[in-house]
Amino acid sequence: MMELQDKTILLGVCGGVAAYKAAILLRDMRRAGARVRVVMTESATRFITPLTFQALSGEAVYTCLWDDRIPNGMPHIELSRGVDAILVASATADFLARMAAGRAEDLLSTLTLARNAPLFVAPAMNRQMWEHPATRRNVGLLLGDGVCFFGPAFGEQACGDEGEGRMLEPAEILESLIAALTPKRLLGKKVLLTAGPTFEAIDPVRGITNLSSGRMGYALARAAMQAGAEVSLISGPVELAAPYGACVTRVTSALEMRDAVLKDAPTADLFIAVAAVADYRVEKAVSQKHKKESGKPPDFKLVANPDILAEVAALAHAPFCVGFAAESENLEKFAEEKRKRKKIPLIVGNLVQDGLGGKTNRVTLFSEHGRYPIPPGDKNIIARRLIEHIADLLEKTDAGTGRRKNS
Ligand code: CTP
Repeated sequence: MMELQDKTILLGVCGGVAAYKAAILLRDMRRAGARVRVVMTESATRFITPLTFQALSGEAVYTCLWDDRIPNGMPHIELSRGVDAILVASATADFLARMAAGRAEDLLSTLTLARNAPLFVAPAMNRQMWEHPATRRNVGLLLGDGVCFFGPAFGEQACGDEGEGRMLEPAEILESLIAALTPKRLLGKKVLLTAGPTFEAIDPVRGITNLSSGRMGYALARAAMQAGAEVSLISGPVELAAPYGACVTRVTSALEMRDAVLKDAPTADLFIAVAAVADYRVEKAVSQKHKKESGKPPDFKLVANPDILAEVAALAHAPFCVGFAAESENLEKFAEEKRKRKKIPLIVGNLVQDGLGGKTNRVTLFSEHGRYPIPPGDKNIIARRLIEHIADLLEKTDAGTGRRKNS
């Protein structure tokens, strides 16, 4: 994903059974492009060895305040120098208590005092420890000190109990970290998106659909969330997990997608139509399966689907509308024509052979200000660039509201 490219994260691991998940988190942070430096408490090494983290991070792992591998003898200062964030995952009740008291008796607690990077913690403990008044008090103090909490989650615990106190899953912690480090360019904005294909039924088992994977729309929903927006994603049938924190409405046909979009559009600031909506649907889907013994191919009439994007763009108080144009040729000409026909300020054009169904894409933006190519790459990275560009355009329209009046 490379969303943490050029970032250095100090990962603190405390002693608890969730420490094993920190290894998965480390691997995922590395995949996202981060450099990760690991510091473990003494008790964390009882659950998982420093060697595991060393192999996964490709860097030395530190556990001791008196480590003489740091030449100036000050690991508590040196290790947090130049890091973009300190993330303690898993953070135990004891570690929260020590941080709340400002104690500095081991390397990790000393580092969290001697820092000038933001501090994030993902607690992991038994539910009774989490609910205990002492822990409540400590969490309150830490929040007051500006520490940011990721979780914990509610669910089944290692001890067999069920309740609040479980560490968030590594993917959720990573998502929260990326979001926390992303500038909040869309804070306070409501963003509505469509993604994926639609499926237009012919009979109970057959239908008309297309090769859209939904990845570009889901990546944009995530990027908008990370930029601070409130996100509503109307998704056609895809196999993707809901972007963490987004409100997802799953639909099948273009008509269902239109209804869901029109419900949210009047209050949206920004509408990004990424879905590959079927232009036509079967006028009357039959309720029983078509049988080949009938000797005749199925006989159905196609009727045009409504153009969801054009309808939203024509609303009395339309949100800022962004469309997609997937073309197999003449990208520039067709994309620009589409933008004008649908009366939208921005269209994202790509050649189907570059993006449809895959994990990467190559897109060019067409707006009234001209064309703007985005370097080809992973759809998550393209999504972040696109959100940046859209945020720039929003700032230029109607004092940043994005709304345009159609009278
Ligand atoms: N779109 C929509 N509702 C439709 C069809 C398309 O909202 N019924 C949106 C898509 O989400 C996308 C853009 O419009 O943002 C694509 O425009 P369109 O002209 O419909 O593209 P194609 O279907 O590819 O058109 P054509 O086959 O003419 O190229």
